[in-house]
Amino acid sequence: MNCVQKFEFYTPTKIYFGKGAETRAGELIRQMNKKSVMVLYGGGSAVRNGVLGRVEDSLKAAGIRYIVKGGVHANPYLAFAKEALEEARKEKVDFLLGVGGGSVLDTAKAVALGLANPQDDIWDYYLRKKVPTVSTPVGAVLTIPAAGSETSNSSVLTNQDGNLKRSCNLDINRPVFALMNPENTYTLPKYQIGCGIVDIMMHTTERYFTQEEGNELTDQLAEAVLRVTIENGSTAIQDSHNYEAMSELMWAGSLSHNGLTGLGVAATDFSCHQLGHELSAKYDVAHGASLSAVWKAWANYVYMTKPSRFARYARKVWGVCETDDVKAARMGIEKTVEYFKSLDMPVCLPELNLGELTEEDLRELSFRCTYENTRRIGAFQVLDMEDVYHIYC
Ligand code: NZQ
Ligand code: ZN
Repeated sequence: MNCVQKFEFYTPTKIYFGKGAETRAGELIRQMNKKSVMVLYGGGSAVRNGVLGRVEDSLKAAGIRYIVKGGVHANPYLAFAKEALEEARKEKVDFLLGVGGGSVLDTAKAVALGLANPQDDIWDYYLRKKVPTVSTPVGAVLTIPAAGSETSNSSVLTNQDGNLKRSCNLDINRPVFALMNPENTYTLPKYQIGCGIVDIMMHTTERYFTQEEGNELTDQLAEAVLRVTIENGSTAIQDSHNYEAMSELMWAGSLSHNGLTGLGVAATDFSCHQLGHELSAKYDVAHGASLSAVWKAWANYVYMTKPSRFARYARKVWGVCETDDVKAARMGIEKTVEYFKSLDMPVCLPELNLGELTEEDLRELSFRCTYENTRRIGAFQVLDMEDVYHIYC
């Protein structure tokens, strides 16, 4: 259909962007009249680079009572979220503050859901067996431009019992505020910067590759997010202390996943995310790397469904001048793959160094990715278990 489809857009997160943003945490939480805060962080980067200390200082200065819980694993675990939930209940926590990236923020969102719904098992929300209608407020102090959890409606957890990586996507998950100081990303290792760039691009392309036409403003916003991410990503990967590049990436990360770049699209694709989640669930692959490792195979498998869409992507994002749609489409795919390589990101499964994956392994991944052959994934081209298997191959 050639027009903007119906849409709803809700992005309530108040963003405080710029140097020193994290020092506002205490004052903002005090204004909300919260009495007891749980501060969550990951494996220790936030301690080592001083972000956590500055956040704690601001809580102390505002007279806020808080407890700190570190140890959130990247690709976070349900079991850890439940452990944190127990502690939060004992301390009568009424506000969750995540200091970190998607893993920490998603754990904070899970604990927030659990606190507000003591009668439920939070995993039921991720299995879509139940839909909660209330949560506890969450604030975000972002330290990595990547997952976009600081403005998204999503929380993604892995249940180690069965290695199930599942998401819970609800507006009540959106943080009330996000404190975004690009300087807090300076200590990121190159690999994590690369993963973040890929993830930001994929949140945009997974919405952009659609069969629908006519969402012109949405399309151009998506193309701008992609161009800015690509250009600044190349700088940031060489120099993590480049404020301008890091700030552009940080802002792009939030816009790529708050819904803006998919407005008016009835069905977003997200098949690379589904393919990638299965790799992360089974082999604990970093999220961004799981996406770059499957994108080339996915794109080559589906682009002939609608070459004109891939051709537009090639022309508007990569500046390809080729007039033939099929040729242009292939050039856009090639340029994307070359770009991922320039970031040192894997562009096929073997580059994830998971050891030799047998046909049986790949069949199992496909089986699990399609929830035991009970669902199909994607929208640009709907993929069944056999398609998924061919893409993993
Ligand atoms: O754990 P620490 O020590 O903090 O180290 C982390 C972690 O090892 C490190 N890091 C973060 N900020 C740093 C830093 N190291 C040095 N300096 C800094 N300033 O980076 C590593 C990765 O952190 P993580 O939070 O896992 O990264 P990301 O933001 O990429 O989040 C990935 C998780 O988010 C999920 C992914 O599936 C994955 O579980 N996603 C969440 C989404 C959402 N909630 O909307 C959407 C995404 O599509 C994604 O699925
Ligand atoms: Zn993602």
